[in-house]
Amino acid sequence: MRGAEAILTRKRLLGRECVVKARMVKGYREKELDCRLRGERTRGEARLLHKAKLAGVPCPAVLELDEFSITMEFLEGERPEMGLGESCEAGRMLAKLHAADIIHGDYTPANLIASRAGTGSGKAMHVIDFGLGYISNDVEDKAVDVFTMLRALEKKEKKDAFIEGYRAYEKEKAVLARVRDVEKRVRYAV
Ligand SMILES: Nc1ncnc2c1ncn2[C@@H]1O[C@H](COP(=O)(O)OP(=O)(O)O)[C@@H](O)[C@H]1O
Ligand SMILES: [Mg+2]
Repeated sequence: MRGAEAILTRKRLLGRECVVKARMVKGYREKELDCRLRGERTRGEARLLHKAKLAGVPCPAVLELDEFSITMEFLEGERPEMGLGESCEAGRMLAKLHAADIIHGDYTPANLIASRAGTGSGKAMHVIDFGLGYISNDVEDKAVDVFTMLRALEKKEKKDAFIEGYRAYEKEKAVLARVRDVEKRVRYAV
């Protein structure tokens, strides 16, 4: 498993299946800056995973934190198909993240996993990859998270189901109004 910045590997730790997400050296960056950025992003992601869990959003538990890598719980499962139920659940999870002022930064189906982990039976949606996330109470930042998922969902029924779930957030009206502004800006920009 390899992303733009990190390499993910599986391992067992104390009998548990884990994933190690390690941020790799970027040779084109000056060494000191590279170390600082990788360290900050690693700590930032671990902090957001922890905060998201406290906010009641299912996500991998952080088991170990090193300077440039996070060892987290492996979620057995797959990328959700984003039917209406899953789209609505994706909206409810984002509502909880935003109520805690957590901005995901890349909220798409590729960063969700439908997994049995942590549930008694059946599959539940989990959020992963807080690598681009940060804390903010800005309406614009929240609108961009909503916009990112809406664009990925494509079909109107799925978008509506996602928005229905997102309405659980108390400031949903302000955010959804801003989403319409973001959509206009994107349309005029192309
Ligand atoms: N905790 C996890 N359990 C199972 N699979 C995971 C876990 N974390 C990441 N993955 C898998 O690895 C891929 C890349 O991880 P991600 O954190 O999204 O990194 P990137 O920043 O490179 O997108 C994910 O799309 C998912 O398939
Ligand atoms: Mg990802």
